[in-house]
Amino acid sequence: MKEKLLSLKEAAKNAIIAAKDEHEIDELRVKYLGKKGELTALLKQMGSLSPEERPVMGQLVNEAKQHIEELITSKATEMKNKATELKLKAETLDITLPAKTQSAGKIHPLNTVLNDMLDIFQSMGFDVLDGPEVETDYYCFECLNVPADHPARDMQDTFYLSKDILLRTQTSAAQARVMQNNKPPIRIVCPGRVFRADEVDATHSPVFHQIEGLVVDKGITMCDLKGVLEQFAREIYGKDTAVKFRPSFFPFTEPSVEVDVTCSECGGKGCRVCKGTGWIEILGAGMVHPNVLRSCGIDPEVYQGFAFGIGLDRITTTRYKISDIRLLFENDKRFLEQF
Ligand code: PHE
Repeated sequence: MKEKLLSLKEAAKNAIIAAKDEHEIDELRVKYLGKKGELTALLKQMGSLSPEERPVMGQLVNEAKQHIEELITSKATEMKNKATELKLKAETLDITLPAKTQSAGKIHPLNTVLNDMLDIFQSMGFDVLDGPEVETDYYCFECLNVPADHPARDMQDTFYLSKDILLRTQTSAAQARVMQNNKPPIRIVCPGRVFRADEVDATHSPVFHQIEGLVVDKGITMCDLKGVLEQFAREIYGKDTAVKFRPSFFPFTEPSVEVDVTCSECGGKGCRVCKGTGWIEILGAGMVHPNVLRSCGIDPEVYQGFAFGIGLDRITTTRYKISDIRLLFENDKRFLEQF
């Protein structure tokens, strides 16, 4: 029995040393120390020993049991440590790797110019308002003194959503809402998108941007209009910029003007951008027509006003010498990153 015990001990030791993973160790634990294990089986044979031999053998078996347990525990710990070490090695961060760079967004050139323009008008005391892009025929045309047979009302120029609902063709549509909801003095600018059924080319887009201006108060004259617009043009294009007022026509202003500034490309000498004229048209304006004031409940005998509509896209393309308006709407990162 003693020999059996010794060989069992030896076999267990070798098996434990040879074990390759925790699973094998578990199996060995069951094989040698389990209830149905080999050591237990040996203990069961103790009954056949003489009373003198029993305690000696008992002690030997217990020692063997303890020895095997110790071997198993230390092997298990060793394996666990090895596994942890491997795991840590696998998870090591290589802090010398170059970082992934995050490209930050930029302000779109249209927004840069818009912000500059709003700053200029706010410094002159204008409030900034918003108006709806989806408008009624009434606000976009009718109350602006645009007659029913005016060409702007043609389907070819205006996107109609239904008979009376349309996409505004001009930010002037915001004028009447402001005059109906506020008492003079009124001094506002209203920037936003406008829509016209234009063919797309280098200078036309079905969506573009305007900034509407409206001033209504007692004693407002054409001089006020000229002063505000000249000041604006010089702040946007530089103080040497010349401003030219040309007589024009809009149904909602009388008299009406179109305003040109010195071509920023050639300084007025004449070039491709200004088509050789030396001037660039940037806005339409005029004194608010008495019919418009009246339709908004303002007495034209007491109050006068002026209005203007500036083309934001035009100002942006001329300021940055952008040759094609489509670039402003394509959102090509290679283009936008240049600003
Ligand atoms: N709404 C006009 C346009 O789109 C511009 C304008 C605005 C003219 C205000 C006069 C007064 O062309």
